[in-house]
Amino acid sequence: MHDHDILAAMPLDRDAATPLFRQLYVRLKEAILAGDIGAGARLPATRELGRRLAVSRQTVLAAYEQLMAEGYLQGAVGKGTFVSASLPAAAKGARGDAAGDEHHALVRPLSARGATMAAAMARVRHHDSQLRTFRASMPGLDLFPFDVWRKLEARHWRRRALPLGYGGAAGHAPLRELLCAYLKASRGVRCTPEQIIVTSGSQQALYLLAQLLLAPGEGVWLESPGYQGAAAPFEVAGARICPVPVDAEGMDVAYAAARYPDARLAFATPSHQLPLGVTMSLGRRLELLRWAETNRAWIVEDDYDSEYRYTGPPLASLQGLDRGGCVIYVGTLSKVLFPGLRLGYVVAPPALAEPLARAKAVVDRHSAIMPQAVLADFIQEGHFARHIRRTRDAYAERRAAMLDALDSRLRGVLACGPSDAGLDLCVGVTNGLGEAEAAARALAAGVDLRPLSYYTHPAAGPDCAMPPGLLLGFSAFTPEQIRAGVGRLEQALMQGASQQDDRVQRRRQRLY
Ligand SMILES: Cc1ncc(COP(=O)(O)O)c(C=O)c1O
Repeated sequence: MHDHDILAAMPLDRDAATPLFRQLYVRLKEAILAGDIGAGARLPATRELGRRLAVSRQTVLAAYEQLMAEGYLQGAVGKGTFVSASLPAAAKGARGDAAGDEHHALVRPLSARGATMAAAMARVRHHDSQLRTFRASMPGLDLFPFDVWRKLEARHWRRRALPLGYGGAAGHAPLRELLCAYLKASRGVRCTPEQIIVTSGSQQALYLLAQLLLAPGEGVWLESPGYQGAAAPFEVAGARICPVPVDAEGMDVAYAAARYPDARLAFATPSHQLPLGVTMSLGRRLELLRWAETNRAWIVEDDYDSEYRYTGPPLASLQGLDRGGCVIYVGTLSKVLFPGLRLGYVVAPPALAEPLARAKAVVDRHSAIMPQAVLADFIQEGHFARHIRRTRDAYAERRAAMLDALDSRLRGVLACGPSDAGLDLCVGVTNGLGEAEAAARALAAGVDLRPLSYYTHPAAGPDCAMPPGLLLGFSAFTPEQIRAGVGRLEQALMQGASQQDDRVQRRRQRLY
């Protein structure tokens, strides 16, 4: 097509919000990049093009000037305007910013690491906005003191005393001190503020640790079933995933030590295993520490919801028992406050704190200052402790409502697993209904729950097989909502039977 035809075929939309000169600029740029108007081609004079497009000369002039400033055109008043001769010959269809580009295939493939990264979280579900009973692992936002939070934040903006430049990578110093005091007092963690690195949720903590500590091919013990959010960072680091069965005492350390003795790292949720809800026994804790010390391996302790224990005070952390400096403690505010806050922290062994902070700086310099500062005030002024007490009492009531409703309406269909801690309840499906069938029926009845298979890593073999089970969250719902949800669940699950294999039956007897 002749350049002039191309320009004539550039209808401008007079009703669009985008100014006419901008529309013309974009169209000319696309035509140049695609090679439709070749390097060195002379463009019509501004007055002439304005006439042909029925726009003012100023409109054309503004488009030409912008393209000149960006190097697409060159020329001077009176001498004509040309497409820059220095532009390399453009490939047809190589438009950089054409609408709809996101639907096209990548021009170059992702790197192998990039492809792993892009796929690694695909198994992990995002929360949609509609909160339905019994969404798992979700705190009760109806109990959060948003007004207090808002006032604390407003006070910071009013005083303007916060450092708003680039800060230290390890996080806001007052927050690190307060977290340190909290963890020592309530979790028996042995630490100094210098060991604490504030992260964007525990997810970032795991990503940084995986990058820092693991070479490709090194083994990582992962509980199976277990937290899939943890598997992703280890996979991205190229680690060999070593699924470890879980029984009533927690991760089966003897199994893992026999099967994967050379692993470099063990990831565990000792206080409250996700999803089964069991607490790791003291015997297992000591066994795990012994293995890590002997094999110079790391243990990552994910202590995500330990604030919530209903039958006594929270249990002490595994980190508090460690004398060999091999436990890395990871905590989060996602359960005790809310996930969208994206704040978590690591208590690193002293020599790891500095490399970890430097790795954090590579990813995002440091976490946003305002949420850290507000959280520090929230803790310092007693709101945090009050919120924990309040939510613990409310969740205890919600948990009791759940246990009661399940007992009265679904006895013989669902068998409750351990329920002394956390935000969720794991139940076995005991009426012979397959897990997928039970979950599908529940979902169809508008009940949000997760089958245990959701927590099974694809690498897990038959040793990690579980009897059918479901995870139901109770913390985010009032007792009335819980009773109504159990009613819907009852209707959905009351019929159906299927055979289960013997191994699965035996494991169920050990767990429920
Ligand atoms: C076992 C476990 N660890 C940690 C988290 C929290 O992750 P984050 O701090 O990235 O929100 C969750 C959330 O569901 C979890 O289940």
